[in-house]
Amino acid sequence: MSKLSVNHLLGIKYLNKQDIELIFETANHFKNVINRPIKKVPSLRDITIANLFFENSTRTKLSFELAEKRLSADIINFSSSSSSVTKGETLIDTVNNILSMKVDMVVMRHPNPGAAYFLSQHVNAKIVNAGDGAHEHPTQALLDGFSILEKYGDLKGRNVVIVGDVLHSRVALSNIFLLQKMGANVKVCGPLTLIPKHISSLGVEVITDLRTALNWCDVAMMLRIQLERQDIKLFPSLREYSMLYGLDKQLLDSLKKKITIMHPGPINRGVEITSDVADSKQSIILNQVENGVAIRMAVLYLLAGRID
Ligand code: CP
Repeated sequence: MSKLSVNHLLGIKYLNKQDIELIFETANHFKNVINRPIKKVPSLRDITIANLFFENSTRTKLSFELAEKRLSADIINFSSSSSSVTKGETLIDTVNNILSMKVDMVVMRHPNPGAAYFLSQHVNAKIVNAGDGAHEHPTQALLDGFSILEKYGDLKGRNVVIVGDVLHSRVALSNIFLLQKMGANVKVCGPLTLIPKHISSLGVEVITDLRTALNWCDVAMMLRIQLERQDIKLFPSLREYSMLYGLDKQLLDSLKKKITIMHPGPINRGVEITSDVADSKQSIILNQVENGVAIRMAVLYLLAGRID
């Protein structure tokens, strides 16, 4: 199989195992390309991509932009804070105006869950979800899975614990879908106020004690506390959260085995993870960022192959 089963990348939920394997295989190829002296290929020379960011981003925005440039696509960038959205223009009107400039693909980050799906139903372009509210962040899960695969050679049977603010995390949901599709075992850890009530319906067990969770896993994905998405206080203080669920070097070194540390970023150093853990040999946080470019090149290249 050399084609994705989907026309858009809206979420990991819509991909099958073969799609994920194809994206990993293609990303492997592009990782070789971006490590050559000439890092550019002409694959998307005839394609125009609009990057629409209605919410802040550092890694995802830069990574998509670099991936598009490495593939020789033409790109236009849009950020809502400096656009006519602030004058009341709707999402559909904004996007249709951009599409009338003959855009083939749209990469969109939006604060509302389902925004990418909504767009895919209303506009004639391939849509890539770059994060929709607390729903999904598919390219983050793909780069995370690819980074684990690179480290261990296989995802099947790997124990992965996702720690922290699972309730507000699109990274957590996308990773749960992806890791389970690829045969990994996934558990979550955090205070119950930060864990979705119905998480067990996804086949995910909750561990409330951090040391127990870390001793079970091969890989720990540490999540940022998303204070900007919390309308009410869900824990007494960041200091207390950090004492119970923060990972420091002393705890890391006291575990039964050497686990791998991941974080999607941005990191709140000293809250969910200390600097010496984030920068330790067990951390693959910067590998995740590097792999993000190859994964996004793969996704864009494969979706472009579905343009009529
Ligand atoms: N991981 C991630 O989505 O980071 P940004 O919000 O900086 O894009």
